[in-house]
Amino acid sequence: MDKERAVFGGGVAVITGAASGIGEGLARHAAALGMKVVLADIAVERMEGVVAGIRAAGGEAMAVPTDVTDAAAIDRLAAITHETWGDVRLLMNNAGVETLGFVWEMSAATWDKTLAININAMVHGVRAFAPRMIAAGKPAFIANTSSIGGLSTMPVQTSYIMSKHAVLAFSECLSLEMQVKKAPIQVSAILPGPVATRIFEDSKPGTDPMVAHHREAMRAMLAESGISGLEAAQRILRQVAAGEFWVSTHPEITAEFARQRAAHLSGLNKPQLAAETLALLGAH
Ligand SMILES: NC(=O)c1ccc[n+]([C@@H]2O[C@H](COP(=O)([O-])OP(=O)(O)OC[C@H]3O[C@@H](n4cnc5c(N)ncnc54)[C@H](O)[C@@H]3O)[C@@H](O)[C@H]2O)c1
Repeated sequence: MDKERAVFGGGVAVITGAASGIGEGLARHAAALGMKVVLADIAVERMEGVVAGIRAAGGEAMAVPTDVTDAAAIDRLAAITHETWGDVRLLMNNAGVETLGFVWEMSAATWDKTLAININAMVHGVRAFAPRMIAAGKPAFIANTSSIGGLSTMPVQTSYIMSKHAVLAFSECLSLEMQVKKAPIQVSAILPGPVATRIFEDSKPGTDPMVAHHREAMRAMLAESGISGLEAAQRILRQVAAGEFWVSTHPEITAEFARQRAAHLSGLNKPQLAAETLALLGAH
């Protein structure tokens, strides 16, 4: 913890999706490391509860209600943060949602909202915060949350999976842009494995039996074998502080998914349903 405290202590952290799960864990742990933490979420009551908990533990935090689908709201978040506490040392684009369904059965509004939260919000987070971070000229960190799903494919989770692949490509290109500009901003891509959060509780089961089966299987798997949001946050911030680009909560699972993806692509293999995929869907 000493390394993380030395890197982050006294700095300002901004965390989207901080009212629950991994984001809540990140907010609590960043505060425990001595950061001033700005929480941004649409779940205002839950977010205020997290802020109260941080303050009760002696930490510094403020809640800025923010809908990350609104680019202007993210600009406001950046302005409020800068006016209140100055330069940002750690931006965590963490908010994300699981939306389930066959591609052609999801409404246009559901598609737009999912991609706005899981992809566009990352873009606007960087667009709103990076100029001041670069101008400050001090070492700082931008971490974008993808998933081990960013290294795999899965039917009925298409909107989620494609968005998490996009986050990886975005983060790699962003890292290169920072290097081209010689900006002291380290970019990380976060690839969580199973973490027990409300992400599948909040996803709609839909009416298709395969979609409902998949949701229940994933919900139960996270509840039974996921690590806590706080444990995930501790693992994540340790690696971000150490300067890692690829940040994982479950390194063995990430490595295995990466190996399988690399083999699939280098063989130019066709997408093929695996027995485990069919089992998740309750199909045979
Ligand atoms: N839980 C896992 O196993 C897991 C695995 C891989 C990746 N992830 C990723 O981790 C991140 C955090 O997920 P989590 O599991 O903690 O989920 P969670 O549902 O517990 O928390 C997500 C938070 O995002 C907030 N949010 C949703 N829409 C928003 C919006 N429009 N504006 C602002 N905030 C909004 C929610 O209110 C919630 O507080 C997501 O990007 C998710 O894809 C989670």
